[in-house]
Amino acid sequence: DVPGNDYGTRPDTGAVIPGGAYSGTDYYRIEQKPTTVEFIKGIKTTMWGYNGEVPGPTIRTYVQNGQARRVVMQQINRLPAKHPTLGYVPWTSTHLHGSPSKPQFDGYAGDLTQPGEWKNYEYPNNCTPRTAWYHDHGVHHTAQNVYMGLAAQYHIVDEALEQQLGIPRHRRDWPAGHPQYEFPLIISDVMFASNGQLMFDADGESGLYGDVILVNGVPWPNMKVEPRSYRFRVLNGSLARGYKLRLSNGRPFTVIATDGGFVHEPQTVTSFTIGMAERYEIVIDFTSMKGSKVQLLNSGVKNARDFAHTGKVMQFEVGTAAPTSLEGNGPLDTAAFAALEHPAMKLTTGESTATRHMRLERTNGLWVINDQTWDDVVRSNYSKVFANPAPNSVEIWEIENSSGGWFHPLHVHLVDFQVLDRNGQPPRPEERGPKDVVYVGENETIRVLMRFEHEEGRYMIHCHNLSHEDHDMMIQYQVGHHDI
Ligand code: C2O
Ligand code: CU
Repeated sequence: DVPGNDYGTRPDTGAVIPGGAYSGTDYYRIEQKPTTVEFIKGIKTTMWGYNGEVPGPTIRTYVQNGQARRVVMQQINRLPAKHPTLGYVPWTSTHLHGSPSKPQFDGYAGDLTQPGEWKNYEYPNNCTPRTAWYHDHGVHHTAQNVYMGLAAQYHIVDEALEQQLGIPRHRRDWPAGHPQYEFPLIISDVMFASNGQLMFDADGESGLYGDVILVNGVPWPNMKVEPRSYRFRVLNGSLARGYKLRLSNGRPFTVIATDGGFVHEPQTVTSFTIGMAERYEIVIDFTSMKGSKVQLLNSGVKNARDFAHTGKVMQFEVGTAAPTSLEGNGPLDTAAFAALEHPAMKLTTGESTATRHMRLERTNGLWVINDQTWDDVVRSNYSKVFANPAPNSVEIWEIENSSGGWFHPLHVHLVDFQVLDRNGQPPRPEERGPKDVVYVGENETIRVLMRFEHEEGRYMIHCHNLSHEDHDMMIQYQVGHHDI
């Protein structure tokens, strides 16, 4: 049984309304500020949220005439001068993960907004429809800031395409109260001290494992669903925990999208692995589960620390009444999926002009990539780069994990890539779509293929175990010759 509660999930897709709209741009004003959340009945836990929400408000931008609306997001740092227990100054930098943003709007680790300051970020949204997410990226405190709640989803939505694919979707033209069939599922883990406040057992630089699983900020929630298909935008928002997800009744998931958008061939799997920052959009068909309770379970992954209840994630309680609507209830239009042309998935190795090798290691108590840390980048006055590909060139990067008993979700900013192979074998079924993070397990070597398009400038590459990132497992590369 799920230990859980009856709070329900936060059904908040499309929760924020732009503060203003002008021509093709929507304006949002977001305050990073303290709030309290009642995770445990009767106990108020201090958190930091975008607009005081944990997780933060979902932003949705819609494609019209082939181009999504641009977004300008003003991020105002209204955090206290010091973290209440850890004492550090909560400077922030906001990164829209999954967006080809210009370097000055990409949440560069050293581009800090101090408490009391603000910054406007511009997002062109000129990429394929996808589940992106925004989260803090302030240097050396990313893990603590995200743990305190600074994370949220951001969707680029093409309604006409979604309808064509035949997938369950969130319809903004349905009246309030009409059930929706698409939800974000942000999975994270936390640990509470005996006073009910978050415990940050940083465990040195190795990462934080909580014993309580949250989905959209709720411990082991129970969600009521109708007996039909639902689409979930699953994001692993944990600092260090990877998950291997499955349903308690053994029924399958259909993976319809990865980090960078829809796959060309939906994959049916009975379980899938999701590392930190990875996004998988899945469809679950509850039609045959009328009247039953089905748990979303975590079988665990190698090199994550399990506790008594970390094998459970949430529960679906399937109703018996006929669904309110059968729109998007399938079958999927596989021909429409096959006709998609995601640029990263169309690349071939023959287009590559360079193969580069990246070695992830733990040496002298430091997490390093090719013997480099972020500190080396900073000390070079940001001039040190791992690679300097020409604009629009294509390369193969080979990522090798030689760090011992750890896995590292490796994230490359700016680009979407195709996973070519995993230890010489075909990629996992779920990762056969456009990606921007790849799970690099213990002793694994992964090859990815990508084109450096959209922008020029310097972009970060790092491990998305945020404690590893903060303890300097981060480097940068530069596209073209412009500095920014
Ligand atoms: Cu999700 Cu560099 O981050
Ligand atoms: Cu790592």
